[in-house]
Amino acid sequence: MHRGKGMKFVGDSRVPANRKPNIPKDYSEFPGKTEAFWPNFLLKEWMVGSVFLVGYIALAIAHPSPLERVADPTDTLYIPLPDWYFLFLYQLLKYTYASGPYNVIGAVVIPGLAFTALLLAPFLDQGPERRPSKRPITTGMMLLSIAAIVHLTWFSVATHDWEAAAEQGKIVKEVEVDKNAEGYAIYTAQSCIGCHGDNLQGVTGVGPALVGGGFDAEHVSNVAVNGIGDMAAGIFKGTDEELKVLSEFIAEVSSK
Ligand code: HEC
Repeated sequence: MHRGKGMKFVGDSRVPANRKPNIPKDYSEFPGKTEAFWPNFLLKEWMVGSVFLVGYIALAIAHPSPLERVADPTDTLYIPLPDWYFLFLYQLLKYTYASGPYNVIGAVVIPGLAFTALLLAPFLDQGPERRPSKRPITTGMMLLSIAAIVHLTWFSVATHDWEAAAEQGKIVKEVEVDKNAEGYAIYTAQSCIGCHGDNLQGVTGVGPALVGGGFDAEHVSNVAVNGIGDMAAGIFKGTDEELKVLSEFIAEVSSK
């Protein structure tokens, strides 16, 4: 059809005299460019969906979530750590004037000011300029915030005790300990229980788990008498016979 043919011109030459209703063209006007919703289109959708699903499953299997042991609300020595995107707020709370008696400043006032500023930004920064270089105050504030967030996040990662964190969250096997055994009685009497737990599972921040340690009896007797690392010497004060029974008991549990 020739352009403009059959058009009646009015005062403004761009406005047609008889307006056509706004109805989309029929599919038959796009030969070869359409497809049926069922089954063609749905099949394609389903195939793309499957690829993503399998991808996610493969990722989940390759990188299992880094779970720690079951949370213990009575464990006051556990130091929790937020996910990486909150580390800057976490780090902020470590500074003198943002923690302790000033906790409100670090937890409410500073983040509150930042978010209020963000909320008010469209009303405060109303200039017609769109280029960042022509809006020095807003751009400066943004760069400052980014620098602060990067710095705080970096510092919190650099100063965290990752070794202790791995230790406190370690999943320790739960093992049936025979509490009627003679060895267990000695374990309790010699106060090993205070630092290594009633199931030899360890006590956070005090003594490590003996379960799963794989110690032999000789090593255990040696440690009980002479100590090792952070464990003092001379904790065991019983007879040689008791030492033997205790060591064999612990060696057996530790091999589980
Ligand atoms: C005051 C707390 C405390 C008491 C009580 C205690 N331990 Fe320990 N024990 C520790 C600590 C801490 C360690 C970790 C030492 C290290 O590796 O620095 C440890 C480690 C051990 C180990 C592992 C050694 C190794 O090679 O890693 C054994 C075995 C052990 N203790 C046995 C005993 C026995 C047996 C008793 C009782 C006679 C006992 N402990 C009492 C604190 C204690």
